[in-house]
Amino acid sequence: MKMSKTHWQRHDVTHHYLEQVRGAIPFGAEQAKIMLQVVDHFAPNPKKIMDLGCGNGFLSEILLKTYPEAFATLIDHSKPMIEQAKLHMTDYSAQCEIIHDDFSHSLQKYATSQSIDCIVSGYAIHHLPNKQKRELYQEIYRVLTPGGIFINIEHTASASSQIEKLHDELFIDHITVLNKRNRQEVATEYYARPDKEDNILEPVYNQVNWLKEIGFKNADCYFKWMELAVFGGVK
Ligand SMILES: C[S@@+](CC[C@H](N)C(=O)[O-])C[C@H]1O[C@@H](n2cnc3c(N)ncnc32)[C@H](O)[C@@H]1O
Repeated sequence: MKMSKTHWQRHDVTHHYLEQVRGAIPFGAEQAKIMLQVVDHFAPNPKKIMDLGCGNGFLSEILLKTYPEAFATLIDHSKPMIEQAKLHMTDYSAQCEIIHDDFSHSLQKYATSQSIDCIVSGYAIHHLPNKQKRELYQEIYRVLTPGGIFINIEHTASASSQIEKLHDELFIDHITVLNKRNRQEVATEYYARPDKEDNILEPVYNQVNWLKEIGFKNADCYFKWMELAVFGGVK
């Protein structure tokens, strides 16, 4: 199994994200709520779900709680994250499979064409180069059932370096307040974080256009705060 390399293979990076960052993502709860609202509207009651770059299962947990008859396939290429997902998803073990693999060029290993009703991803696909992002979106389209939905909650590129700076400073504020920490320390950590090197950010509007070109209907950015976007489309 060929895995793309990211800093997410490191225990310290994984634990820092889960302990200090996930809960401090600005509008994180709203992003999840919008994911559910859009899924409910376009593909109500999905039976088969896929979560790409699942982390500890944050998004799958919300979906499986909402749709108790659904079954989810969670994929992540980080061993420490997979260990965390197995712990975090214990209550849902009968409703999901947790797979240690790279999601690029591998979806067809875990799903036949037109077999998945809902594919979600949270802050993961931006680690792929743009060509591979597009190929993955195409693969997602192939495995979705007609009427199935793709939602990507994602870190995207700012329109300018000044907006990027504003995004970064506001994000640091959130982490500082949520974790009751010293702002300077958080800022130093934030700008030097190892996984920053793995980010290949692309404006959300370009990515929505790629989805439209692939054939997704109702492709749009459903919510956006600074660089954080909830976007997707319906097959
Ligand atoms: C920022 S975390 C997000 C985790 C979770 N989706 C969430 O919303 O909290 C990004 C995750 O994507 C995973 N990831 C990144 N690139 C991947 C790839 N090519 N294949 C599988 N997993 C990948 C990382 O291992 C990491 O667990």
